[in-house]
Amino acid sequence: MTSSKPSQFYGELAKYYDDLNAWKDYRAESERLEEIARSIGRRGRATWLDVACGTGRHLEHLRRKHPVVGVDASREMLRIARRRLPKIRLVVGDMRTFRLDQRFDVVSCLFSAIGHLRTERDLGTTFANFARHLNPGGVAIVEPWLDPTKLRLGSVYLRAYDGPFTKVVRCAFSTRRGNRTVIQYHYLIAEHGRGIRHVKVTDVGLLVSRSRLLELMSSAGLESRFIARGLMPGRGLLIGVKDR
Ligand SMILES: C[S@@+](CC[C@H](N)C(=O)[O-])C[C@H]1O[C@@H](n2cnc3c(N)ncnc32)[C@H](O)[C@@H]1O
Repeated sequence: MTSSKPSQFYGELAKYYDDLNAWKDYRAESERLEEIARSIGRRGRATWLDVACGTGRHLEHLRRKHPVVGVDASREMLRIARRRLPKIRLVVGDMRTFRLDQRFDVVSCLFSAIGHLRTERDLGTTFANFARHLNPGGVAIVEPWLDPTKLRLGSVYLRAYDGPFTKVVRCAFSTRRGNRTVIQYHYLIAEHGRGIRHVKVTDVGLLVSRSRLLELMSSAGLESRFIARGLMPGRGLLIGVKDR
């Protein structure tokens, strides 16, 4: 058995990410994101930056109508995104510190990627960085990590992928340590000609109340609100609009 830090979650395990998340309807999610952007006044074509874009599954759909750019901290995730989106600008960068020579009408950060940050200070820095990359009147759309009041501690989860040459089973168990969720993932990976590996990853997520997240967004210069009907059940979306 090998033990990995959270960064390796999107490193050595990146190649199984799309298969294990095949249940996720990125097309419908992208349509919902466009609907939200439209409702805030971003009609028609909008320049769009997806931060922590992972393997580029939202960008794949958004790019059909909008000029898009992606940023992610993981080279391995971006390698997969580049195969999917060979003509799209994809940049390795940390959401707190990346700098692009471009401003956007929409900055999104989805599937609770902000939950990987370790402190509220990092969250504030990240929101300020999103604001920095928005045009006046532009909108940040951020999918938060779990609401601390809605945690179901001790829960277990299972995902599986049954491909012709690769089989992956992922079991997860979630607990809480202070203001963090601690989720233990055990992967069993069977690959044709290679045998079976067991990889254990512990993922730590920062728990921050909704009101505090909105406060941090406002302090970063974004007029913020929460909408309950987001992308995934129970998570909602934080919306932050930059002054015109
Ligand atoms: C759950 S995945 C979401 C990927 C994609 N947004 C999606 O919806 O499939 C989280 C992503 O956040 C990225 N990530 C984690 N910490 C980051 C950071 N500090 N800056 C930029 N990306 C980060 C990971 O590399 C990973 O691709």
